Amino acid sequence: MKLLVVGAGAREHALAATLERGGASVVCAPGNPGIARDVRVLSLDSGDPAAVLALAVAEGVDLTVIGPEAPLAAGVADHFMAAGRPLFGPTRAAAQLETSKAFAKDLMARHGVPTARALVCDCAADAMAALARGTLGWPVVVKADGLAAGKGVIIAPDRAAAEAAVRLAMIDGGFGAAGARVVLEECLVGPELSYFVIAAGEHFVACGTAQDHKRLLDGDEGPNTGGMGAFSPSVLVDDALRERIEREIVRPVLRGMAAEGAPFTGFLYCGLMLTAEGPKVIEFNCRFGDPEAQVVLPLLAEPLAPVLARAAGGGPLPAALRFSGDTAVGVVLAAGGYPGALDTGHAIDGLDRVRAECPAVDVRFAGVAERDGALVVSGGRVLTVVSRAPHYAEAIAAAYDAVRRIRFRGMQYRTDIGARALAAVRP
Ligand code: AMP
Ligand code: GLY
Repeated sequence: MKLLVVGAGAREHALAATLERGGASVVCAPGNPGIARDVRVLSLDSGDPAAVLALAVAEGVDLTVIGPEAPLAAGVADHFMAAGRPLFGPTRAAAQLETSKAFAKDLMARHGVPTARALVCDCAADAMAALARGTLGWPVVVKADGLAAGKGVIIAPDRAAAEAAVRLAMIDGGFGAAGARVVLEECLVGPELSYFVIAAGEHFVACGTAQDHKRLLDGDEGPNTGGMGAFSPSVLVDDALRERIEREIVRPVLRGMAAEGAPFTGFLYCGLMLTAEGPKVIEFNCRFGDPEAQVVLPLLAEPLAPVLARAAGGGPLPAALRFSGDTAVGVVLAAGGYPGALDTGHAIDGLDRVRAECPAVDVRFAGVAERDGALVVSGGRVLTVVSRAPHYAEAIAAAYDAVRRIRFRGMQYRTDIGARALAAVRP
């Protein structure tokens, strides 16, 4: 089977590598020069649905798999559907589960899916009035409705901070168009986990669990980022919780989407908080997580392409996917300045040593460019160093052993990725 993976980050590198490991032939577009070391890459404006379709036709691929949310929000899946070409990813209408927090909240309310109590506000006056009533309690969470690259969420400890957040989003345009509407949410307390399924309308199959580390600094300090590292599987999920998540969250959401005329096909990413009352939805994403894909996919012990192809064809799907039983840990190496103004252009040293000396490690590339045949830093999250081992402790040690061999000026990373897994697993 020949596949086109659309995207340019470490998640797409992991997707492409996993599909190839399962025996598929893969091209990635637009990819990046790091991905190009493993799979063929082609240039592409992935936000242009007609260009994506033209590339899939020109390359004669059997299936196109979309990595990031932006091409889905732009309607790439709708375009393929109209042309009768197979694609794995949701339509623009189904992608609203991620692209509009208000849509997701309303859908969950209609279908009884547990989530934080929330108020959707279309103007600053409504939001200020809601804050004055204070019915959601304090702290309160202020979220830009639209896509804001993981930066549109402010946890406000009190009314003054919440009003400032509303002003930033709705009056000062701090999140651009994404902040024209805000969602005010009750603040949930508990550990977070990511639950993934491959969905095809009402059919679905579980596709791994992970725990992300969203803050920049050790100990969950510093600003929110796209994700500084992750491990898989989550230490929080046992069979009973898995069953509950599928019964209370996955199934009603997929049924609801289908019943309302926007059946969801693609990776459904459920961002959950494990509260005292049980699992509650923090957010949905219409794609795999990044860096979660980098740690979930290497544990898959069967070919992925046939499952995605079946989903793209409307299902049905196997009852379960086989996973190896190992653990995986991924440490993100970020550019200096990330998540603010980036310090780019610096040479990345040590990659050859990792390749030669760290057999249990894969480096997945994101913000890299090529200069004189060598890789240099070109984006915020530069690469994810991923290791796999039977136990978290070994996987953590192997990942950091590789990290120590890699250097670029300004390099930032957390030194505590996976520590939460160790704390939870007692000998
Ligand atoms: P989101 O972009 O919706 O994933 O939010 C980013 C982060 O903000 C989440 O990973 C949570 O840590 C936090 N967060 C979002 N919503 C809530 C909430 N209702 N209660 C507590 N924390 C939240
Ligand atoms: N790791 C968070 C995300 O992919 O949105």
